[in-house]
Amino acid sequence: MKPLKKAIFPVAGLGTRFLPATKSIPKEMLTVVDRPLIQYAVDEAVEAGIDTLIFVTGRSKRAIDDYFDRSPELEAELEAKGKTEALEIVRNVIPSHVKCFFVRQSHPLGLGHAVLCAADFIGDEPFAVLLPDDLIDGTPKGVMTQMLDIYRRTEKAVLAIEEVPLSEVHKYGVIKPKNQDQYPLEVAGIIEKPKAEDAPSNWSVVGRYILTPDVMEALKNQEPGTGGEIQLTDAIARCVSSGGFVGHPFHGRRFDCGSKRGFLEANMHYGLK
Ligand code: G1P
Repeated sequence: MKPLKKAIFPVAGLGTRFLPATKSIPKEMLTVVDRPLIQYAVDEAVEAGIDTLIFVTGRSKRAIDDYFDRSPELEAELEAKGKTEALEIVRNVIPSHVKCFFVRQSHPLGLGHAVLCAADFIGDEPFAVLLPDDLIDGTPKGVMTQMLDIYRRTEKAVLAIEEVPLSEVHKYGVIKPKNQDQYPLEVAGIIEKPKAEDAPSNWSVVGRYILTPDVMEALKNQEPGTGGEIQLTDAIARCVSSGGFVGHPFHGRRFDCGSKRGFLEANMHYGLK
């Protein structure tokens, strides 16, 4: 089993629900308390020992590249003024052993397409995918660390899952568990954004995945699905028959920061922590 060292962050979305703020600021740079949303997902990946981060960006997302770059002028100034606490904060945005790569998704062809844009960086290795909109305060450890434990133990791809009301399943990828009372849940099938009446369960996939290279291979010839987009869920569905996927009902609290309510709740939660 190859170790998990690489993570993909699809961050090319337009953030239309947060206009006009997102006209010039990428939605991933909006702050939850004092840190940009993207920082939470990055910290979660780094906590899990991931050292190679691949950001799939788009036009007008340059603020993300700048944020993860060193800032020598700022650091020199803070050092000269003896502002050591502020200096530490600036330096710790990315630990020095972590490498960042940026690739552009020039057409909004879907999550699967965004992940495929990072294929050359992944090669024949397992990889994580973190969707920063799903902000998860994992307990006691971050969700990616929880998933890594399962990946090591089962040697299977791992999807973070959560039960949602049937009225909500149309917003998510939904798994068909092989057996409800076995943990982690073996995945027998998965479907993207089903109608409530077609849903195989109410176990929805949230934005955390540990995937094996066969999923990247499947993406290379994945036909468009729901919404005319190339769906990551569809590529996973084609690989599931190998029996190599489990669902992890994560421990922690998720905030849907793609919505204003979720974003506000996250600010309250982390602000009062
Ligand atoms: C994406 C995935 C979906 C997953 C969801 C989690 O959907 O396509 O399978 O359940 O993220 O947040 P999106 O929210 O981009 O529509």
